[in-house]
Amino acid sequence: MSMTQDEMKRLAAKAALDYLPDGGVIGVGTGSTVNHFIDLLAPLKGRFEGAVSSSEASTERLKAIGMQVIDLNAAGELEVYVDGADESNKHFHLIKGGGGALTREKIIAGASKKFVCIADETKLVDVLGKFPLPVEVIPMARSFVARELTKLGGTPVWRENFVTDNGNLILDVQNLEIMEPVKLEDRINQIPGVVTVGIFGHRPADVLILGTPNGPRILE
Ligand code: A5P
Repeated sequence: MSMTQDEMKRLAAKAALDYLPDGGVIGVGTGSTVNHFIDLLAPLKGRFEGAVSSSEASTERLKAIGMQVIDLNAAGELEVYVDGADESNKHFHLIKGGGGALTREKIIAGASKKFVCIADETKLVDVLGKFPLPVEVIPMARSFVARELTKLGGTPVWRENFVTDNGNLILDVQNLEIMEPVKLEDRINQIPGVVTVGIFGHRPADVLILGTPNGPRILE
């Protein structure tokens, strides 16, 4: 059976509904896979007090289905966070930030008991880094951080005409083979001016749901 990448994303999003708590506040990520999840959440929304959102884009969509959007400061620890990824390895270390929402995503993932990651099966890789690694930087540090990333062996490319929800810039680092995600996450976090690196190594996903032509594949 042939299936588009988008159909596989929707399958993964649907399977994530089984991981939602009976009530309370849930964390909702950003991206095209999560957009399917938000659509599928619409009929269930009455069950929840509301959602904490990882981007202005998801906030708009959540409001459009009638879900209350709650500030993380008012929510405490979340039971579940559902979000996509750009790449995952078999340890559920992720690259995220293709949509530029990595900082808020990392905060909410950190504030959640369970991180359910939804993606199509093409996102599972042996070694992270084929997808250019997003790094959010303070605008005045852009060139300095780029030089430092070059020293680490990468090729940073400024995502032009893009400003994050936090008013910062994104460098997409090409040509990395990330053999030790946690180490590289630490190393890049040390560069002054870096707000967030899109490696989710210290806080990987807990469950990875991959959409495949044969249905959802669940890795825990
Ligand atoms: C947003 O900043 C990203 O971290 C997304 O989670 C990631 O880009 C996945 O996006 P898609 O669901 O659109 O593939």
